Amino acid sequence: MIHSRFSFLLQFSALLAAAQGKPNNTPLIQWTTCSNDYSSKLPADCGTLLVPLDYTDPASTETYALDLLRIPATVQPAKGSIVFNFGGPGEVGRSTLAADAPVFQALTGGEHDLISFDPRGTYASNMPLTCFDSEFDLQAYANAQVIPDQDDQATLGKLWVRGALDAAACAKKHKKNGTLIGTAFISRDIMRIAEAVDDDGLLRFWGYSYGTTLGATLVSMFPDKVDKIVLDGVQNPHQYYHAFADVEEWAQSDEVFSGIFSSCVAYPDQCALARDNKTAAELEQSVMALIEQFKYHPIGVGQMTLDNSFLYQTIQNSLYSIAAWQNTTKLLDMLSNGGIDESFVLSIASQTHPTNQQSLLGLSSVYIATEAIHCVDRAARAGTYENFVPTMNELYETSKIMGRGDVSLSMACAQWQLEPKERYEGDFQVTPKNPVLLIGNSYDAHTPIRSARNVSAGFEGSVVLEVNGYGHSSLGLPSKCTLATTASYWVNGTLPEPGTVCQVEARPFANITWKDVIENASKN
Ligand SMILES: *[C@@H]1O[C@H](CO)[C@@H](O)[C@H](O)[C@H]1NC(C)=O
Ligand SMILES: *[C@@H]1O[C@H](CO)[C@@H](O)[C@H](O)[C@H]1NC(C)=O
Ligand SMILES: *[C@@H]1O[C@H](CO)[C@@H](O)[C@H](O)[C@H]1NC(C)=O
Ligand SMILES: *[C@@H]1O[C@H](CO)[C@@H](O)[C@H](O)[C@H]1NC(C)=O
Ligand SMILES: *[C@@H]1O[C@H](CO)[C@@H](O)[C@H](O)[C@H]1NC(C)=O
Ligand SMILES: *[C@@H]1O[C@H](CO)[C@@H](O)[C@H](O)[C@H]1NC(C)=O
Ligand SMILES: *[C@@H]1O[C@H](CO)[C@@H](O)[C@H](O)[C@H]1NC(C)=O
Repeated sequence: MIHSRFSFLLQFSALLAAAQGKPNNTPLIQWTTCSNDYSSKLPADCGTLLVPLDYTDPASTETYALDLLRIPATVQPAKGSIVFNFGGPGEVGRSTLAADAPVFQALTGGEHDLISFDPRGTYASNMPLTCFDSEFDLQAYANAQVIPDQDDQATLGKLWVRGALDAAACAKKHKKNGTLIGTAFISRDIMRIAEAVDDDGLLRFWGYSYGTTLGATLVSMFPDKVDKIVLDGVQNPHQYYHAFADVEEWAQSDEVFSGIFSSCVAYPDQCALARDNKTAAELEQSVMALIEQFKYHPIGVGQMTLDNSFLYQTIQNSLYSIAAWQNTTKLLDMLSNGGIDESFVLSIASQTHPTNQQSLLGLSSVYIATEAIHCVDRAARAGTYENFVPTMNELYETSKIMGRGDVSLSMACAQWQLEPKERYEGDFQVTPKNPVLLIGNSYDAHTPIRSARNVSAGFEGSVVLEVNGYGHSSLGLPSKCTLATTASYWVNGTLPEPGTVCQVEARPFANITWKDVIENASKN
């Protein structure tokens, strides 16, 4: 496994402290050296906070151990703490924060302690939703994750049954824990963290992607506790809870897909596919034809069968960030024009497909947590295939590339058996104590900027910052303007003027990273 298990000793001593009742001057969290190696480039420490296992049962004394990682402010004393969530749902927090600690410190102006945790349900939390008992069952689950064409009734029928199997397996294995992992409880966990770490007990939070649904829920449940909150790469939370699928998420995906080819033609020296001398439209057409060809004529590489489903997943993955476009166009060029480099193809494949036992466990544990959290949150359940079909067709029609990627998850959710102990039932219309900053990219294949505007319309005083480029959330688009804007919000509480558009330093195929932009900004 990628993660090592929670340290029993730490949990034991924390439970003991809770049982003995803590004197008023003892902090709720004892920060110590991390027992895991998070390979953080900045100093990091770790701690555990005990929170109620079930917030809806005040009579219960059962606790849940929330493991935290903290990157202390580079400028001390810290102005308070900011909690991070990196999306999914199903993504872990501690290792992601540690891996890019210098970037997050720069983006927040260096004056806050940064904290993350692995939300309930995720594999590195103390409540991992594993759902399957054997490696055989896990392998069957992983093998079933295919991306069918809209007219492929046979495969769609099998995928629907697979969703029912997932729903039944999670209900059987996690009858109790599967009801304790919803976003309302994760929001309450964040509120507990805020109360434990800072004297003012106010919320400072930065959520990416699904982390914006979590953040929107947090703001709506605790509007009086909001100090500063950034929602970045914004989902439509109304759809997340109340629609049969997150259809709006894919509204701009095909524009981003086309952006790969227009950028390829604009920077031909850096894009392998450009050597065909085609126009952007011709390149896109030839890639669509390649995908169709692989449907009937897949190839074997290593122990993998590369088919059209593989190509869809790889392209979907590369729409997260322009940083992936160089490799994706190189792969497409190899598959179109020959000269396949097996180790290169397998290294690309391993990002989305299990290529060995370890990656089977790693990738599957993220997918299952995503399913278990999103599906339990979703109030709308289609129940039958017939009821689901109109939404499925909407997915295919919204985006030829991304819509189909949401079919498998949405089918499982349509048949989910568990209900959360608590679900936020409100309408996301609140006046928070302090204004919220939303960030949306002009072209985001996972969260179109219209969803940021949708959430902003409900949060009195909020502002949407637009970042002009291709990618998912501001993390996908290094920009000195974004850096200055977010740092100024965190340090001084300054919001950008409504209508502000940040230009970016990182154009496609240029290899410019956040590290480059941050180093440059500190020089100038
Ligand atoms: C449910 O979560 C609790 C609290 O973390 C944990 O102790 C228990 O082992 C979990 N049960 C299952 C079946 O995973
Ligand atoms: C593409 O154009 C360049 C420059 O005009 C030319 O040298 C090259 O042969 C062309 N390649 C193809 C595949 O047509
Ligand atoms: C591109 O692929 C190479 C070879 O597998 C890999 O080393 C590199 O990290 C990849 N680049 C990105 C941005 O993923
Ligand atoms: C936000 O999105 C929801 C769901 O799609 C929709 O019902 C609502 O009208 C939207 N609100 C605004 C202000 O656009
Ligand atoms: C915060 O405001 C002060 C005073 O105007 C200014 O000097 C400083 O650069 C600002 N900090 C950031 C990160 O914008
Ligand atoms: C980006 O990196 C790739 C791979 O290292 C290289 O082939 C390409 O020329 C680089 N692009 C630029 C603009 O430096
Ligand atoms: C860094 O700054 C120099 C000088 O202002 C500029 O020419 C260059 O484009 C910048 N690079 C990045 C990555 O921002």
